[in-house]
Amino acid sequence: MSKKIQRRTFIEFLGKGTLGAAFIPPILNYQGGRNQLSSSFTASKIKGVKPSAADNLRLAKGLKYEVIIKWGDPINKEDTFGFNNDYTAFLPLDPSNPNDGLLWVNHEYVDPVFVSDHIPGTERTLEQVKKEQYAVGGSFIRIQKNKKGKWKLVQNDPLNRRVTGLTEIPFNWPEPIAGKNSGIGTLANCSGGVTPWGTILTCEENYDQFYGERNYKTGELIISRYDIGWTKFLDHPPEHYGWVVEVDPQTGEAQKHIALGRCAHECATVKELEDGRIVVYTGDDSINQCLYKFISSKPGSLSEGTLYVANLGLGKWIPLDRDQSEVLNKLFKDQTEVMIRLRQAARYVGGTPLDRPEDIDIDPLNGNVLVTLTNNIPKGNYFGSILKIEEDNGDHASLTFKSDTYLAGGEETGFACPDNMAFDNAGNLWFTSDMSGSLMYKEPYESFKNNGLFLVPRNGEQAGEVIQVASAPIGAELTGPFFAPDGETLFLSVQHPGEGSPSKEQLTSTWPDGIGNIPKPSVVAIQGELLKEIQSARE
Ligand code: FEO
Ligand code: CA
Ligand code: CA
Repeated sequence: MSKKIQRRTFIEFLGKGTLGAAFIPPILNYQGGRNQLSSSFTASKIKGVKPSAADNLRLAKGLKYEVIIKWGDPINKEDTFGFNNDYTAFLPLDPSNPNDGLLWVNHEYVDPVFVSDHIPGTERTLEQVKKEQYAVGGSFIRIQKNKKGKWKLVQNDPLNRRVTGLTEIPFNWPEPIAGKNSGIGTLANCSGGVTPWGTILTCEENYDQFYGERNYKTGELIISRYDIGWTKFLDHPPEHYGWVVEVDPQTGEAQKHIALGRCAHECATVKELEDGRIVVYTGDDSINQCLYKFISSKPGSLSEGTLYVANLGLGKWIPLDRDQSEVLNKLFKDQTEVMIRLRQAARYVGGTPLDRPEDIDIDPLNGNVLVTLTNNIPKGNYFGSILKIEEDNGDHASLTFKSDTYLAGGEETGFACPDNMAFDNAGNLWFTSDMSGSLMYKEPYESFKNNGLFLVPRNGEQAGEVIQVASAPIGAELTGPFFAPDGETLFLSVQHPGEGSPSKEQLTSTWPDGIGNIPKPSVVAIQGELLKEIQSARE
């Protein structure tokens, strides 16, 4: 589906024509591939895919995919690839070689029907829970593109490793968190980010489904209505989850960054300032929750600095710092409590409730910050939108900004519920949709059919159109789009195909292995002429 809605607005919004200005990131200077920005090639018209209810990964003409890895595949002698892959990030081992590197993949949650052979409605065993704990967290896998252009896992590479729901992880904070200096496991790992020093940030999103949440008035544990059943066996404090976790690809060491606050973090999008200080944007993906920005006080730090919440009405970033806020000083006993109860603190200082802020990306050509707002069904916002934040003076350390909705979901634009985004090397915007499984195929989502991947070209005659370029298998969501440095591969997760299958005998999807097989969350590599053409297109 392809619509020319808001084309003029989109072009203005993107700041078309700013190529060559100060915001060109190093990645655009990559000289090893064939997508040189000096090309005068104009892409032929892109034909999108129609919304589809088929059980396959359907791609637009000019794109093809291969599966790199599936849930359960061995990555070395001890470890296997986790379940429900979400965020991906490709880190080349040698910056001059885009065909060899480490792929980090988040594992968000489990479907017990597949992971632990749990039969819904029956009692779980601790053994089953342990299998499920192992299946969340993240994976590093070394992959290489061979001479035939296929991406292959390097089995048993020393850098292949898992971080799981069983890994002990220290807190990076001067005070203990719920009495401890470390917690057991990372979980709910949704989207993430990459630091300038080459580590991964993986974000703990819907943590309350695993070990619950605290009622801070009574101190009691609140069990989530989506609780998966671990709280009957384990009583890890909920305060140990809901953080941004940094993982070092060389050592596998992880740490939870308390200074970035505790909430249902979707992602952590990092920008390094000219003086080396770090800015991190992160959204709290829940209805009527807020958008945050951390600004470090020292170069290269994710622990020393100030966390701010966005007030869109005032166009201000408001500090969540007890020393700068009378109300926080009065209501919270220390800064540790502010970080743990971030949602309440944000509300007290005037953070703007948003319609599920999910992924955040920075436009590489003009520095605008895009935030997907997936939906807010209780408020009647079914289709979501993409928000633009324009920092004053284009400065990511600015405490004032302008904001605007630039692209709204709906039948007119052909997409609903935007989630993860990625810009390619030419500044074209790619994003995925996340209509929840329980609502898919029903009004008002019926016409959109399966979830998809969408492209908004920046240049050429289709600039500003929303073009669906992929349709997911049944029940699945496409997540974690991430481009290889040469722009020739788009890594993409296919998460939860067949979700909602009542049992292994009654499957709603058999992707990727086909009839007679259970569905498996998998990571694919998308390549093809369309990727090359779209990144070479000029008007
Ligand atoms: Fe895990 Fe907000 O998506
Ligand atoms: Ca997401
Ligand atoms: Ca989502």
